Amino acid sequence: MQLRTIGQIQVGAIGLGGMPMSIEGRPDEERSIATIHAALDAGVTLIDTADAYTLAGDEQGHNEELIARALRQYGGDTSGVLVATKGGHLRPEPGAWAQNGDPAYLKEAAKASAQRLGVDAIGLYQFHRPDPTVPYADSVGALAELLDEGVIRMAGISNANPDQIREAQEVLGGRLVSVQNQFSPKFRSSLPELELCAELGIAFLPWSPLGGIQGAADLGGQGAAFEKVAEAHGVSPQQVCLAWELALAPVVIPIPGASRPASIQDSALAAELTLTAEEIEALSK
Ligand SMILES: NC(=O)c1ccc[n+]([C@@H]2O[C@H](COP(=O)([O-])OP(=O)(O)OC[C@H]3O[C@@H](n4cnc5c(N)ncnc54)[C@H](OP(=O)(O)O)[C@@H]3O)[C@@H](O)[C@H]2O)c1
Repeated sequence: MQLRTIGQIQVGAIGLGGMPMSIEGRPDEERSIATIHAALDAGVTLIDTADAYTLAGDEQGHNEELIARALRQYGGDTSGVLVATKGGHLRPEPGAWAQNGDPAYLKEAAKASAQRLGVDAIGLYQFHRPDPTVPYADSVGALAELLDEGVIRMAGISNANPDQIREAQEVLGGRLVSVQNQFSPKFRSSLPELELCAELGIAFLPWSPLGGIQGAADLGGQGAAFEKVAEAHGVSPQQVCLAWELALAPVVIPIPGASRPASIQDSALAAELTLTAEEIEALSK
C-alpha cells in the first residue's frame, strides 16, 4: 500500500477506525477480529482506537483490548503496526459522551491505555477533545510530560481548531505529529485545519471520513458526485471518497471505520486509486 508519514513513522495511507467494533451496534468478537486481520492483510498499518470506544464506562478500553487481542492472534508480523489511541473522552452511561481534560487524569488514562494495549510505550497518543473547563495548554501539557516520561512515543490532538493546533505545537515544543478532525464530503468545515496541517507537515487524520457509521452507505447524502466517478473507475463511491481525501494533501491519512472485513478490504484499495485533476476538482466543489 502507498505509505504516508506520522512523525518519523511510515504507515499505510489508509488506516482502520476501530469505533464501530465497540460502540452501539457492534458485531461479535469473531467478526471484529476477522475485520482487523483483513485490514492487516490489506496492508493497513495504522489502527485508530480510544479508551472511550465502549458501550459505557464500566467497560472502558473495550476497543483497545480488542485490538490488542487481534494483533496477538494475527499470524503475520505486526511490528510495523501503529496503534493510535486517545484519552480525555468518557462514556459515563450508554449513549452519552463526556470530557475530562484534567492533566492528572490524562496521565493516568494514558498509563491505563498502555497496559490494555500491552505496550511499554503507546505509539501515538491523542488528546481526544478539548475540555472547556480546563485550559487547553494544561491538557496538552500532560502529553508533553507523557512524551518526556516515555509513556507515549508520539503525541496528537483531535477535534482542534487552527488556534489550538498552533497552541499544541508550541506546548509540545514542535513535537505535535497529528491532528484528527471530522472531515468527509458532507462535513468539510475542517478544511482550514487540513490545510494548516499540510503547511506545518503534521499528519491530518479525517474521522468519519465516509460520513459516519450511519451515513457511510450514501456518503452522508453527498454520494451522487462520487457515484459518477466511481462508475467511471469501476469501484465503490466509498473508495473514490477516500482517494479524494488522500488527494487533498500528502499529510492526509483517512481512518475509515469498519465492522466487516469486506468494508476495510474495499477502503484499503483507495490508496491505489488515482483520480484525475478534473475529478478531484469536481468532487471538491
Ligand atoms: N476523534 C474523534 O472524536 C472521532 C469521532 C468519531 C470517529 N473517530 C474515529 O474515526 C473512525 C472512522 O469514523 P466512523 O467509524 O465514525 O465513520 P466512517 O469511517 O465514516 O464510517 C464507518 C462505516 O463505514 C462503513 N464502511 C467502511 N468502509 C466502507 C466501504 N469501503 N464501503 C462501504 N461501507 C464502508 C463501515 O461499515 P461496516 O460497519 O458494515 O463495516 C462502517 O460502519 C472511527 O472508527 C474512529 O476510530 C474519531
